[in-house]
Amino acid sequence: MNIQWFPGHMAKTRRLLTENLNLVDVVVELLDARIPASSKNPEIDSIVKNKPRLIVLNKSDMADPEISKDWASWYKSKGMHVIFADSIKGKGMNQLKNQLKVMMKDKFERDKQKGRIFRPIRIMIVGIPNVGKSTFINNIAKRAVTQTGDKPGVTKGKQWIRLNPEIEMLDTPGILWPKFNDQNTALNLAFTGAINDDIYDVTEVAAQLAERLSKDYPGLLAERYKLEDENRKGYRLLELAGAKRGCILPGGEIDLRRIAVVMLDEFRGGKIGDITLERPIWTEVEQKHEENRP
Ligand code: G4P
Repeated sequence: MNIQWFPGHMAKTRRLLTENLNLVDVVVELLDARIPASSKNPEIDSIVKNKPRLIVLNKSDMADPEISKDWASWYKSKGMHVIFADSIKGKGMNQLKNQLKVMMKDKFERDKQKGRIFRPIRIMIVGIPNVGKSTFINNIAKRAVTQTGDKPGVTKGKQWIRLNPEIEMLDTPGILWPKFNDQNTALNLAFTGAINDDIYDVTEVAAQLAERLSKDYPGLLAERYKLEDENRKGYRLLELAGAKRGCILPGGEIDLRRIAVVMLDEFRGGKIGDITLERPIWTEVEQKHEENRP
């Protein structure tokens, strides 16, 4: 299978993002904790440039806690701070606020010495579709001290949500386009629902997911779909799961498409288990350094 994806309006999106970037101090980049590498838009670095950036691994409630620890060490080894969030429950929000203050401390200290009047730290959220931007913003907004109205000098319609006296967030997120040059990344994005189901064969994608899970997380599919033997090819796993779930066509054949939709849906909703589909890739030097860390 070959998933092809040609996102339109890339130039326009880039321009919009750059415009909003000029209004903020820190960019908060939301990634999916289950696929931290695949959910990253590779062009974000060239868009954000030197603007301070904070990484939030969202949906961490559905990720594998052991692999999340590995990702945290990996980001740390690169000098990057990462926050694990659950935007539905609001986990990670306090950490976010604290870390933003740490990041901006020096700049605000310098401003103060120059006699500049205090102003809140301004942030914006960016991420690919479905990573949880709206949920994250809504959750913060609910807890926010106030929603500030339009401000002079800010494009009409833009609202700032005041998180506390020191931090304001732009209420419109920057939507990045998912991008991939390899099929593994494409599949990870398809599994998690970051790319639209219309552009690929749902049954094929679910079969690939089933096979991946049976290898990487033995026992989970068996438990969820009451399978006796999980050690099968993807399509066979779909058939077995379909039979157990009563996904049968009028002629008696298994309705593969139906069970495919069910499985993808359950995976995306975290019902199959706490699963992370990719691990950080350490270079040999990084690994040695990490092992020698006191
Ligand atoms: P977006 O703005 O980046 O496009 O994403 P959005 O907030 O719409 O979130 C996409 C889906 O992910 C939503 O599910 C939302 O509830 C879920 N979600 C967001 N953050 C988290 C999180 O931290 N943990 C968990 N478990 N789920 C999260 P949905 O309403 O079912 O939408 P859909 O997937 O059916 O479109």
